[in-house]
Amino acid sequence: MKLALVTGSSGLVGSEVCRSFADEGYSVHGLDNNQRAVFFGPQGDTRWNQARLQAEVPGFVHHELDVRDRPGVLALLKELRPVVVVHAAAQPSHDRAAAIPFDDFDTNAAGTLNLLEAARQVCPESPFIFLSTNKVYGDRPNQIPVRELGSRWDFADPAFAEGFPESSSIDQSNHGVFGASKVAADVMVQEYGRYFDMPTCCLRGGCLTGPNHSGVELHGFLSYLVRCNLKGDEYRVFGYKGKQVRDNLHSLDVARFMHAFVRNPRRAEVYNLGGGKENSCSILEAFRLVEEVSGKKQRWSYVEANRPGDHVCYYSDLRKLRSHYPDWRVSIPLGEILQQIVSAWRARLTR
Ligand SMILES: NC(=O)c1ccc[n+]([C@@H]2O[C@H](COP(=O)([O-])OP(=O)(O)OC[C@H]3O[C@@H](n4cnc5c(N)ncnc54)[C@H](O)[C@@H]3O)[C@@H](O)[C@H]2O)c1
Repeated sequence: MKLALVTGSSGLVGSEVCRSFADEGYSVHGLDNNQRAVFFGPQGDTRWNQARLQAEVPGFVHHELDVRDRPGVLALLKELRPVVVVHAAAQPSHDRAAAIPFDDFDTNAAGTLNLLEAARQVCPESPFIFLSTNKVYGDRPNQIPVRELGSRWDFADPAFAEGFPESSSIDQSNHGVFGASKVAADVMVQEYGRYFDMPTCCLRGGCLTGPNHSGVELHGFLSYLVRCNLKGDEYRVFGYKGKQVRDNLHSLDVARFMHAFVRNPRRAEVYNLGGGKENSCSILEAFRLVEEVSGKKQRWSYVEANRPGDHVCYYSDLRKLRSHYPDWRVSIPLGEILQQIVSAWRARLTR
């Protein structure tokens, strides 16, 4: 049976990928150590999602391992010999990273190298898919002039009408500690593709979301926003009048792209992967949309200072990805994503 190894398997993206590869007939092995609870406290705990996979995904095997454990990672790869590796374990928060730079870099950069090198030694022909981030562009998107609309900012330069492209430089801009550790990993994943001829790709995600996120204030924008809405907690907006724009992609659409890549792998590719303009919203718009679904008024407050390096407007230009994989599309619209997140939080909060 073909075997897939998924790191960060208890997280949002990893858990969706595990389920989706199992549905496609893979034997799925997950690697996670609930580090999200260490990064973010009890609200970030992902054990519930691990338990869900173990209960619901036939044959799923959980490995309690830290990606920073170099010999442990190599031993696991030697034992499993996966035909595909999806690397979604990370310290994922731009804002948390500054307080824990060693944990951030060791996990994101060195952890990725541990997996890459183990994969090169054991299964160099297996597609290696890395969850990178749009933060590798630093705050370059903020150099594009924007225009202010009623409830959102939008790119004013028509060259960006389709969104932000991969052709942008990732150099000489404000990345924050998180963006820098992800750049290190992203470039290393490319290099294992170019230098060692492995089928690697970096997926530079916009906001990846879905019902199985353990959303916290510092990571998981829509999940956290919905949780606040349902609990009647105040959501804090940081700067830009609340009109900052994010593109949102359901984690199932992320997994679906991975199947396309595995069927037709390429080398050293980078793709922006997000919901694109059609699935974008500002924070103010997200409040309205969530209120419509939940029937509850959103409580929120405003902090004048924006988060350092926060994008004013970002939506992914998906044209490169679509030109390589024309069958892939954004299949779950924002309204449906929000309905799923609201129902999931309703169930989890009453447990
Ligand atoms: N969710 C988003 O909006 C988004 C956007 C862009 C990129 N990404 C990237 O996608 C990937 C997955 O994000 P997510 O939203 O699913 O995050 P998540 O926090 O929900 O999942 C990550 C999982 O990795 C695990 N993990 C963290 N450090 C680990 C370590 N040292 N060893 C083993 N396991 C560890 C965590 O416990 C968690 O379960 C990350 O690389 C992230 O940077 C996410």
